[in-house]
Order: sequence, then C-alpha cells, then structure tokens
Amino acid sequence: MSEPETTALKTEILPADATGIARAAAVLARGGLVAFPTETVYGLGADAANATAIAHLYQAKGRPAFNPLIAHVADSAAARRIGRFDATAERLAAAFWPGPLTLVVPQAERCPVADLATAGLDTVAIRVPADPIARALLAAFGGAVVAPSANISGHVSPTTAGHVAADLTGRVDLILDGGPVEVGVESTIVGCFDAPTLLRPGGVPSEAIEAVLGRALVRPAAAELRAAEQPLAPGMLASHYAPRAAVRLGATEVAPDEALLAFGPAALPGAARAAAVLNLSAAGDPAEAATNLFGYLRSLDTSGIHSIAVMPIPNDGLGEAINDRLRRAAAPR
Ligand code: TXA
Ligand code: MG
Repeated sequence: MSEPETTALKTEILPADATGIARAAAVLARGGLVAFPTETVYGLGADAANATAIAHLYQAKGRPAFNPLIAHVADSAAARRIGRFDATAERLAAAFWPGPLTLVVPQAERCPVADLATAGLDTVAIRVPADPIARALLAAFGGAVVAPSANISGHVSPTTAGHVAADLTGRVDLILDGGPVEVGVESTIVGCFDAPTLLRPGGVPSEAIEAVLGRALVRPAAAELRAAEQPLAPGMLASHYAPRAAVRLGATEVAPDEALLAFGPAALPGAARAAAVLNLSAAGDPAEAATNLFGYLRSLDTSGIHSIAVMPIPNDGLGEAINDRLRRAAAPR
C-alpha cells in the first residue's frame, strides 16, 4: 500500500474579482502558491523574496530547480529595483511593457529575488504583465511574484483555469479564474547582453522588437541555449510543452487513426477520415492560432489518440513562437 499523500493541499478556485484577488495576495504573503491569469498563459505565483515558497513552487510543478523563474512586477519602477537596465532594456521596456515581453538583465545591487528563483545566475528575468487581473494581484501583493507557467513541468502550458486545475489540484493553494487568456503563448524573452539575444520567441513578434532596436536579435542555436556549462536560458529543454500523444509536424496528409491540428482554409488529404480535427485558425491568422494552440493540443490529446498531425504554419508574427512550441512538443522525450 502506498503512503498517504501528506503534502496534498486543498486547492481553492475563486473568480478573479476583488475578493479573490485580495485573498490571493494574502496567500502569497504567507508563502502560499497562487495560480493566476496573465495575458500569455496562466502563471503559478510565489513571493519572489521567499525561498521556502519558491522551493514549494518547484516541488508543485515537478520542475528542476536549476531552471530559473521570471519575476513579475507591477510597473517599470519596481522592475528597476530588481534589475539593472542598459539602453537596450530601457528601450524595450518603454516600447513593450506592460505586455508579453520578458527582459533578462543583470541583477540590481540589493535584488530582492531569492537566489533559488534565479538558479544562482547573476542575471534576473523580469516581466510587467498587461493582464488587468495580474496587475491587480501584483499591486495588492506589493512585491515581485515569480511565476512559471501553471502546469506540471514539461506539460502543455495552461490557457484556462480548467487547464491549471487539471494539472495542479492538490498541489497549490488557490487558482484565480479569470477566463481564457488573450495571447496564448508565453512571453518573448530577450537577453539584454552585449548583443541583444532572443532567448525564447513568444507573444511579442521578434520583428517588432528588431524594429524598435533597429538591429537584428542574436538567435543562439538550440544547443547553445541548452549547454550545461553556461546556460543562456536553462529552461529551453528540447522536449517541453508535450502532450501524451506523439506530435508529427509539417503534415501534408493525415491517417485515419491520427488527430489533425489544422491551420488555414485548405483541407488536408485524409482530413475527413481523421480521428479528430481542430483548426487553429481557419482564416490563417497566427494570433488566433496562438490563442488556440495549447488548448487544442490538450483537447486532441485524448485517450486512443497516439499521434497528432500538425499542418505547416508560416513563421511570421506569432508563428515563430507557435513553431517553437510545436517543435518542442514533437521532440523525442
Ligand atoms: O509568459 C510567460 O513568460 C509566462 C507567464 C506566467 O508570465 N511564464 C513563463 O515562465 O513562461 P516559465 O518559467 O515557463 O519560463 C521562463 C523561462 C525559462 O525558460 C527560464 O529558463 C528562462 O525563462 N529564464 C528565467 N530566468 C532566466 C535568466 N536569468 N536567464 C536566462 N533565462 C532565464
Ligand atoms: Mg513553462
């Protein structure tokens, strides 16, 4: 017989109204874990200054502690208390905050973020989210909140409170339900190093960032991002965002026992006989596709489906982030 689960928490789910937000801030303040909506995906928040809370967060997600977390703050002034902003960081913050952009910058002198959350690096990842619920929670709490996506490590990121509950019930104190998210893929991460570096494509298209900077972003090879010695973005594991079913990219036909993740108006050979079909955007709009991506992967990943065929998706705009997530979902595990 297995041991009783002594660490199981009673997970409350509350609507993200004033009462829910006040309660969430109180839970954070006493070192608890709160899942909350942001415009990109739902995050699992803990007090960034509380190492014990952060240890519980890594445990709840089953996430390796060498993978650092993003510190979420209410505004640029709070961001400057955490990190040192060079000209690049200043420009990007002015152009894209609040919004789906994360900046990796050197830590400020008395950076309040616990070492456990930065995995011992001397940099810190910072984001000012745009979602009104996230902003209200950060304002009510008053400090920085570290928040990875609110899913079990390696699993598909959550875009609804229901997705969060499916992964984390019994592992977190509170889930704030603010309805489906706006963007649907995680923030773009830019390293403000000597040469600004794209560490993860995401909710702000890289073209928009390059237009503001007037220069191309450095794009490290996947192997460089994962290199064990000097991890640039230690979370960039090859296999990630993975459904249980296999994911087959660039599909030009679909087998009768496969599910199809379609894109655009064209019908694929075999689609009529596929086990299931969901179209990310019949109109071929990458922003609409991003909103649907993680939810559709979850929906198609039902028992009996061993393979999800995915149609090609153009790489511009949010397509770059979508293709990045799909490549990881398809990577050998
Ligand atoms: O949209 C998002 O960014 C969501 C929402 C909740 O804000 N959060 C999110 O967090 O995607 P997470 O933990 O799933 O991804 C954070 C990524 C990881 O790949 C991590 O390695 C990287 O940020 N990261 C964090 N701190 C870093 C640092 N100092 N240097 C380089 N990469 C860092
Ligand atoms: Mg994640």
